[in-house]
Amino acid sequence: MDNEKCDGCNSENTEMNDILNKYKQDKSNLIQILNEVQEYYGYVPEKAMLEISEYLSITMAEIYGVVTFYSRFTLKPKGKHHIAVCLGTACFVKGSEKILDRAKERLGIDIGETTKDGKFSLEATRCVGACGLAPVFTVNNEVYGKATVKMLDEVIDKCMEENE
Ligand code: FES
Repeated sequence: MDNEKCDGCNSENTEMNDILNKYKQDKSNLIQILNEVQEYYGYVPEKAMLEISEYLSITMAEIYGVVTFYSRFTLKPKGKHHIAVCLGTACFVKGSEKILDRAKERLGIDIGETTKDGKFSLEATRCVGACGLAPVFTVNNEVYGKATVKMLDEVIDKCMEENE
């Protein structure tokens, strides 16, 4: 049974095995393994967490705790345009919450969600290291500084045009 192949299960398991086999079965490797899983799948699938749990002999709750603590890990696939609004202190003081609220309203999704068509996802982040440009949001890691609600609207409009 181990050597049988089928689309969508064994092929994924092979990838997971490749990732896991690079690391010793030591709990301290959890973050590095999760980094690789996030990079490979674009998110951390539950199946992958189950395999990590077995491999490192740690509970699903511990893994889930780490995945939800760090904003770089996501439990769902990100959208084609991943919008992240910084809620770090400098950005928050300069009104980034209004930008986040507008993004939720425009996209019809909440933090951590992806639109049904898979085109947009939304995240709230901690400081992204561009405080001098506060408030800041990013789209697929491109930084938009001195951001306004109007700027966000324009960026979303542009992304929507690209999608058509
Ligand atoms: S607080 Fe937003 S970039 Fe630092």
